[in-house]
Amino acid sequence: MTTTKAAFAHSKISVLKTFVTNKDAAWHAFDPEAYFTHYYGKPHPDDDVLTVLAARALKDAADASPRGLDVIDVGTGPSLIPLLAALPVATRLTAWEYAAPNLEWLARELSGTALRPQWLHFWQSVKAAHCVEGAGSNPLLAHDPLPLLVQRVRLLRGSIFDLPRQAYDAATMFFCAESITSSRAEFGAAVTAFTSTVRPGGTVAAAFLSGSSGYNVSDRRFPAVSLTEAQITDALAPRLASLSVTPIGLSDHEIRSGYSGALFISGRTRS
Ligand SMILES: C[S@@+](CC[C@H](N)C(=O)[O-])C[C@H]1O[C@@H](n2cnc3c(N)ncnc32)[C@H](O)[C@@H]1O
Repeated sequence: MTTTKAAFAHSKISVLKTFVTNKDAAWHAFDPEAYFTHYYGKPHPDDDVLTVLAARALKDAADASPRGLDVIDVGTGPSLIPLLAALPVATRLTAWEYAAPNLEWLARELSGTALRPQWLHFWQSVKAAHCVEGAGSNPLLAHDPLPLLVQRVRLLRGSIFDLPRQAYDAATMFFCAESITSSRAEFGAAVTAFTSTVRPGGTVAAAFLSGSSGYNVSDRRFPAVSLTEAQITDALAPRLASLSVTPIGLSDHEIRSGYSGALFISGRTRS
């Protein structure tokens, strides 16, 4: 009886330990270089697919809005993929990130003399997605995207929960709303804030982890909400007038820490 009580008490503590809200996680100790090496050091085909899908969604948005797009990426972290995907159509590109180490890492990444080969690899996917007849002469699809990135990107420190409402023409978000908390309610609030930062009739393009309960960066654990495809689309659908869903690489085992496939969603916000 005593043993059973002790075991019950222990299991309760374990449950409490694995439930982490956004404010509880150690974002100040996030190791961007370790994250980059683990997830993007060797480009994964799933990320090529995500890059192409995001670039296409933004290109479609730009085709309907020839003056160009004011684009925000939320929870940019140690990745240039969404910034590259939006670069050919963005008049301004905001990286909205909460963790100070990631902002410092992004600033260093953009102040170097050359992009890493991994980013040039994903830039090829962006170019492929944007290439239409005659686009070869488009200067925005230059061989080296770094000068244009430096010109267009601004880095802002902020939380997804504090995004301004109806401020941008388009928003991207790769692995943020579901990868910053264990709380389903916070995930819902994050998705609402993300979609609400886009003007009515604007475009959202986002990637979500499927069925993840957290991930390791260096020796630290970061939280995620384990979600099904239906739960992700249910959170977004009320905010969107149109919705396109693409499952990517869904697997029954982890391919990288916390990653066993993704869901890409794009759509237009309600007018
Ligand atoms: C799993 S990482 C995703 C990084 C990158 N977007 C990618 O695709 O690899 C989650 C990111 O969300 C950021 N983050 C954590 N809390 C946040 C918040 N409240 N608002 C915005 N971003 C946040 C983290 O610092 C981290 O960069």
